Amino acid sequence: MRAREIERVIQGLEAAGIPFERDAELARFTTIGLGGPAEVLARPTSTAEIGVVVELARNETVPLRVLGAGSNLLVSDAGVPGIVLHTGALDHVHIDVEAGIVDAGAGCHFPTLVKRTASKGLRGLEGGVGIPGSLGGVLTMNAGAYQFAIGPLVDAVEAVSADKGTVEMRRDEIDFKYRKSSFGTGLIVASARLRLRADAPDAVRADLNAHMHSRKTTQPVGVKSAGCIFKNPDGDSAGRLIDGAGLKGFAVGGARISDVHANFIVHDGSSTTTEVLELIDRVRESVVKATQVELETEVMTWH
Ligand code: EPU
Repeated sequence: MRAREIERVIQGLEAAGIPFERDAELARFTTIGLGGPAEVLARPTSTAEIGVVVELARNETVPLRVLGAGSNLLVSDAGVPGIVLHTGALDHVHIDVEAGIVDAGAGCHFPTLVKRTASKGLRGLEGGVGIPGSLGGVLTMNAGAYQFAIGPLVDAVEAVSADKGTVEMRRDEIDFKYRKSSFGTGLIVASARLRLRADAPDAVRADLNAHMHSRKTTQPVGVKSAGCIFKNPDGDSAGRLIDGAGLKGFAVGGARISDVHANFIVHDGSSTTTEVLELIDRVRESVVKATQVELETEVMTWH
């Protein structure tokens, strides 16, 4: 039954000329470098093609998941059924320096976009330089760092909804909350228009470097991880609580709580998602025992 539905999805992708792979190992597409295969990995190259993928998934009642830079994601070792829509090919960027307007695709690599706008003397994104996601992921997760938030910089977003097709949303129509927004699998970001402010390129670059420096001194940068694992509980820091419970360096198999920042899990290359998930459970239990605070995961898990 499922096999027939997947075959029809494949035929639909072929007919529309949308690039795809079968049984694509998702470890290649997650920053933690773990995870099993996607039954079908579709890589639309335009907003219209996102629409086709969404419609195929709906018509065939096949699960659909959206993958950006895979920086806040754990994929089960067994992989995931159905379609994974990878936004990587939607990576166009157009910068109008005079107007301070940036038009960019959901798949563009956020730190690269930050560096490009800063080098042109556009201020606004520099605080987000260390966020290892895609633009679509940053908007969907409402990713933040230090004082940086994407919401105030958004002019409009073009998104694809399963019910309404392509929609254009202005900033005041978009809900940005702590680590979530109006966007998700039901409303997929295709591209965004950001409004930045002109300043001297050297001044913007200096701030960007300062943000990168603070990140490097407080977080494990340059090693495989999935970013912060738990959301911060109201008025506190998950990292501080995990550290306070004495868990830095605590490991399950090859997965370990980072010694640099306790809300990060790092691994030695031999680990699995199963071990990471077990470590998450063990940390949650220990923190409840030590502090009565139940931590909630920020990282997304695909089974
Ligand atoms: N702390 C410890 N031990 C640790 C980690 C932190 O004692 O192992 C203490 C720090 O010394 C500091 C406090 O906890 O006093 C807060 O730490 P930090 O400034 O590193 O911020 P955070 O609350 O742990 C949040 C975000 C990060 C974001 C940073 C910087 C969440 C879950 N985390 O971390 O976001 O980069 O602020 O703005 O919201 C992410 O979402 O993936 C992420 C990494």
